[in-house]
Amino acid sequence: MSATPQPDFTWTDQFLLGYGPMDATHREFVELVAALLAAPDAELAKRLDAFADHAERHFDEEREWMVSTDFPATQCHLDEHGAVLASVHEVRALLAGGGHAATCRALARELARWFPAHVDYMDAALGQWMAKRRTGGIPVVLRRGSAVPAEAD
Ligand SMILES: [Fe+2]
Ligand SMILES: [Fe+2]
Repeated sequence: MSATPQPDFTWTDQFLLGYGPMDATHREFVELVAALLAAPDAELAKRLDAFADHAERHFDEEREWMVSTDFPATQCHLDEHGAVLASVHEVRALLAGGGHAATCRALARELARWFPAHVDYMDAALGQWMAKRRTGGIPVVLRRGSAVPAEAD
C-alpha cells in the first residue's frame, strides 16, 4: 500500500560497542527490524510480535545492567526505551484490530531511524561501562574499514 521505498537497514560494524552481550542483542534488533521493513502485509503482525518480544528482553537486559551496577545516567535511557515500547504496543493493538499496515511500516522506519542515534548516545556509554567493569579497561573496538589509531604510550 505504501509507495515509499524502504530504507536499507542492515547491520554495520559502526554499531559495534565492544561489549559482547549487548552487541549480540543489537544484531538481533537490526535483523528483526529489517524483517519487519521487508514484511508483506500478511506477515506484519507476526513480525511485529517477534520484534516486541525482542524489545522487551533487550530493554529489560539493559535496565538490569544499569540498575545492578548503579549506572549514573539511567533514567533518560529508560525513558527512551519506554517511549519505543509504548509505540510498539500501540501499533500492535491497531494491527490486531485489522488494517493499519501503513502505520506498522511507518513504525518500522522510525525504529530504523531511532536505533543508530540511540546506540551512539545511550548504549555506547552503557556498553563501555559494562565492558570496563568486566575487564578493567575500556574496550578497543576494531571496525572493518575504520582507521586504527596508533597507540600512544
Ligand atoms: Fe540497546
Ligand atoms: Fe538502550
